[in-house]
Amino acid sequence: MIGKMKIAVFASGSGSNFAAIEEACRNGELNAEIVLMVTNKPEAYVVERAEQAGIPVAAFRPKDFDSKDTYEEAILGALRAAEAEWLVLAGYMRLVGQPLLTAYPSRIVNIHPSLLPSFPGKDAIEQAVEHGVKVTGVTVHLVDEGMDTGPILAQRAVDVVDGDVDKTAEAIHAVEHDLYKETLNSLFSR
Ligand code: GAR
Repeated sequence: MIGKMKIAVFASGSGSNFAAIEEACRNGELNAEIVLMVTNKPEAYVVERAEQAGIPVAAFRPKDFDSKDTYEEAILGALRAAEAEWLVLAGYMRLVGQPLLTAYPSRIVNIHPSLLPSFPGKDAIEQAVEHGVKVTGVTVHLVDEGMDTGPILAQRAVDVVDGDVDKTAEAIHAVEHDLYKETLNSLFSR
């Protein structure tokens, strides 16, 4: 058994995926250790979750920096200090730029609540329901410079429930928590 992979989880919102990953690391289902939680939203609920779990938090507001590069360089400093080996995006609602992409080539992974390339960007579940599709799903992919593009690692279909965003979101989140864990485990054991 190789040692635990040191990961940094990036999140901007409620952090249910962060919580699922944190729990899986703690109970040994995922052979990894969260060395840092990075957020662009210091007021997000995920910060409270990280603090309760005893995970160090790096919170940087992009508007406090004069450019996207200097914002990401500040994040890089924190990642290096924490010795993060992989970046795991879990509801991080910012496009990743060159400083992070160059420092972590093919080592940034994202989860998205649709079957990409359908419905990229924000509000993917709302987009799917509005479009009237009957099946949507979850994609885990490596991150490149595009918006929810990059090589696909895993996908799972989820039925749209009663044409309803909230019910469908609940079904999608449950699938996300399992699929992320499984995909990260296979990535880290390569
Ligand atoms: C998740 O559904 C994730 O797939 C999505 O944000 C949500 C975060 O939920 N990400 C994207 O839309 C990325 N384009 P969480 O904060 O409860 O983990």
